[in-house]
Amino acid sequence: MEQKHILDYLDETRGKRELKSLFQIVMDEVLKELKLEGTYEVSLSLVSKEKIHELNKKYRNIDRPTDVLTFAFQEADVLFDEPLVDLGSILISPEIAKAQAKEYHHPYYRELAFLFIHGLLHSLGYDHMEEKEAEEMFALQNKILNQLPYDFYTDLNKVKKLLKVASSRSKADYSSFQVGAVVLTKDGKYHLGCNIENSAYPVSICAERCALFVTYSLGYHKEDIISLSLVTSSKNLGTPCGSCRQVMSELMDMKSPVYIFNCDYTKMMKTSVEELLPFAFTKEDLHA
Ligand code: THU
Repeated sequence: MEQKHILDYLDETRGKRELKSLFQIVMDEVLKELKLEGTYEVSLSLVSKEKIHELNKKYRNIDRPTDVLTFAFQEADVLFDEPLVDLGSILISPEIAKAQAKEYHHPYYRELAFLFIHGLLHSLGYDHMEEKEAEEMFALQNKILNQLPYDFYTDLNKVKKLLKVASSRSKADYSSFQVGAVVLTKDGKYHLGCNIENSAYPVSICAERCALFVTYSLGYHKEDIISLSLVTSSKNLGTPCGSCRQVMSELMDMKSPVYIFNCDYTKMMKTSVEELLPFAFTKEDLHA
């Protein structure tokens, strides 16, 4: 049975988004990677920049704000044979995380995951004071980050807002069927596309291909893409046409998630390129 760890979560900054489920995924991934037996509990608080500054000064004598602070339950060693292992508490400043995500050009969720992994590893006894232990800790951090589920980073609230913009740009003079698409890349950027129709119908383009071509024309490649989302003007969930599925299967990783919304966002379907186009024709087939 999959073990369930306890995340005692408090967002003191009253952020617009509920991030508990995100942090729970990270915590489970860390403990799974370390193959630790039993149930672990940690308390995580999202705090303001001022508060983390104050605590950094008080407990570490460092007079500046920081991104993450860890207070291990037992500084010396954690009681690993207890049925419930209390790892203590971790504090993260979302404001600083956001600024760092921007600076390093990656998604905000990646930065939050990184900081939480860092804090959790500290609470489990890892450190980076000496070169050798730092090497081990950082390698582990990266490994866990890269193992997070493929769809971890897509912020669906943001996607919905951008899909509204994308579909408002749709030029559907003939079908009146408006479609908007958004591609998220690993640097945290979202790329918009919409369907554009011509009086010679076949030379029109669908929103999905438009968004993917925009993304590629900006210099991105398959490895840079995290997900594709789309909205249509249908009350039902309109799925990509066959041509778009073919293009998606070649320009995106087959495992990439695809999020589909109906016109008023009351319905959402999460699927993947692989599910949309099983047994896809690939460039390998050309030379087989
Ligand atoms: N369309 C898309 O943009 N994406 C889809 O997934 C389905 C269809 C566009 C093409 C055309 O402009 C209009 O919708 C009607 O087919």
